[in-house]
Amino acid sequence: MPTLNVNGLNREHQAEADTPLLWVLREHLGLTGTKYGCGVAQCGSCTVMIDGAAVRSCAVQASSVSPQQRITTIEGLSANGDHPLQKAWVALDIPQCGYCQSGMLMAAAALLRRTPKPSDADIDAAITNICRCGTYNRVRAGIKMASEARTATPTLPSAK
Ligand code: FES
Ligand code: FES
Repeated sequence: MPTLNVNGLNREHQAEADTPLLWVLREHLGLTGTKYGCGVAQCGSCTVMIDGAAVRSCAVQASSVSPQQRITTIEGLSANGDHPLQKAWVALDIPQCGYCQSGMLMAAAALLRRTPKPSDADIDAAITNICRCGTYNRVRAGIKMASEARTATPTLPSAK
C-alpha cells in the first residue's frame, strides 16, 4: 500500500497512482485543512510543504512523493497553533472568509524557513496565492510580525 510521511507520521492510503496529493490528503487521510480552489496550480489554496518547500498539492501526483519526503500540512504546522505565523494571524485578525488562509500560512512558513527576514520583494515573489477577500496587506504585515518574533534577540534578565 502506498505510504506518505505526513506531519511526522507514516500514512498508508489506497488512492490511484495518478491522484493529486491534495485529494489524498483530503479524501484519504482526512486532512481537510488543505483547500481546493482551482485545481490547476494557480490559486495556492492547496499549498503544503514538502521537505520545507511550498508546493501546490493539486498539481503533484501523490505517487511522485516518496515515503522519505516529509509533507507538512496546516494541521502539522505547529503542535498547538502556536507557530509565530499563527500567532501573528490571530493578533492581526488576518483572515476574512478564511478559505485561502491555510495555503497563505504554508507559503509564508516556507518563505520564513529559507528567508527569516523577508523584504517586501521577497514576500511578493513568494506569496503569489490568491485571496478573493483581499487580505494581502494584512498577510504581509503578519509575515513581518512573525519574522520579527522569530529573529528577536532574547532580552537578558537584568542583574540584581
Ligand atoms: S487548488 Fe491548487 S493552486 Fe489552486
Ligand atoms: S480570506 Fe477569503 S479568500 Fe482569502
